[in-house]
Amino acid sequence: MTDTTTPSAPDGAANPLRDPRDRRLPLIAGPSSMVMFGVTGDLAKKKLLPAIYDLTHRGLLPPSFGLVGYGRRDWSDEDFAQYVKESVSAHTRTGFDESVFEQLRGGLRFVEGTFDDSAAFEKLTEVVGELDRTRGTGGNHAFYLSIPPAAFPQVCSQLAESGLNTAQDGSWRRVVIEKPFGHDLASARELNDVVEQVFRPEDVFRIDHYLGKETVQNILALRFSNQLFEPIWNASYVDHVQITMAEDIGIGSRAGYYDGIGTARDVIQNHLLQLLALTAMEEPISFEAADLRAEKEKVLSAVQLPDDLAAHTARGQYVGGWQGGTEVRSYLEEDGIEEDSTTETFAAMRLDIATRRWAGVPFYLRAGKRLGRRVTEIAVVFKRAPFLPFRSTDTADLGQNAIVIRVQPDEGVTMRFGSKVPGTQMEVRDVTMDFAYGMNFTEESPEAYERLILDMLLGDPPLFPRQKEVELSWQILDPVIEFWAEHLDPAPYRPGTWGPETAHEMLARDGRTWRRP
Ligand code: BG6
Repeated sequence: MTDTTTPSAPDGAANPLRDPRDRRLPLIAGPSSMVMFGVTGDLAKKKLLPAIYDLTHRGLLPPSFGLVGYGRRDWSDEDFAQYVKESVSAHTRTGFDESVFEQLRGGLRFVEGTFDDSAAFEKLTEVVGELDRTRGTGGNHAFYLSIPPAAFPQVCSQLAESGLNTAQDGSWRRVVIEKPFGHDLASARELNDVVEQVFRPEDVFRIDHYLGKETVQNILALRFSNQLFEPIWNASYVDHVQITMAEDIGIGSRAGYYDGIGTARDVIQNHLLQLLALTAMEEPISFEAADLRAEKEKVLSAVQLPDDLAAHTARGQYVGGWQGGTEVRSYLEEDGIEEDSTTETFAAMRLDIATRRWAGVPFYLRAGKRLGRRVTEIAVVFKRAPFLPFRSTDTADLGQNAIVIRVQPDEGVTMRFGSKVPGTQMEVRDVTMDFAYGMNFTEESPEAYERLILDMLLGDPPLFPRQKEVELSWQILDPVIEFWAEHLDPAPYRPGTWGPETAHEMLARDGRTWRRP
């Protein structure tokens, strides 16, 4: 991982826009450009373009940075610049500043073409060459595929035919791919073959944007920079772990992507299993990519599914109803959804980890749309003290100790433990102690995509999962998805609740309950 004490990158250019006191993202990308496929998509508009602007604003991209949009629109460079401006002014984190945008504007180019249009790829080659000549991008170019995986083969083969994938001496070419990395193990392997025929494995950057979140990286800081937690982070003390990723939104305009995919493939295969890996892995010998990835792979290899998938998984689909005072449609009534769709919008499952550290400690994962509120958290719930020297009536309100890593919103960490209620009796009740990012640090955390795009331009890979992790995650999930397809239709749940009854029954079978975050 990036050494945050280093003042500037070896190949980084001095940048007048950078605040020298800001030490959190201190490395500046060297001369380079990014070519973006899928630039008119939702992700580019809401996250990627604003992240590039915000990096520019924070002085972390070189002043000569080039950004090339590739797409079917009949746009000039000026039209593209207007589109980028609109996207950025609506979604920037750091605030819109005309002079910052002017710096970015100088490097904006647009190439019109479809993914199989060889002539357009020739044009792209010329544009990239022009950036090298006029803006000194030094032959360093990243290709960001924010497009459906079905289009990867075409784009990759065009990049190879036009020679865009090949770096000249001393420069680099990288490809960035967005999930979904396939829809099962076999398709993930096929997809990888396509990409790695054209780019070297070390030049492939797979985005899991959860790894770009400060609070997710903080799992490593919490566990491995302190003496306090690691001694109790194991089966002797931990009762179980709950990992929740709840969203209050529905699927909105994403039917084309979501229907037939569902929650397990959309977020459990990647985000939740990455959170599990970071929570459960052994200490890596360093935070270099190879060491970190090796530990994540080791723990993912040890994950086991329960034998009885009907009892230990749950699947749901939201029905129509009310959420926070607004009437909302059922999943089946959303635009573009098949009327008899059995795609799940809620998924929960129990996973076990067959290692000395975790034997007998279930990890419960749940995720869903249209739930009670937007919250992602990891709750490590501890066993009860083996003996309580109090009257049982005095500890009636005492729950289990817990450490909760609040990934978002309200980022921070909570500890729950028992404390004496003031008064003449020795009554003990749960209290919480909070660390909140907002209270302890003055600056807002960067967006995940800012961090990941910068790391990619710097060639710093620890926050990008490698293919083996992707495959291990599919290996875990494939049997669940197959079982569901054959035996388990999603159960209905009302918007604003915490999922279907079956999810609560699943935990009740183990004598436990889900947290209400
Ligand atoms: C994406 C999923 O990866 O993560 C979306 O495809 C989901 O379905 C999104 O809404 C949530 O991201 P975040 O950062 O808002 O938690």
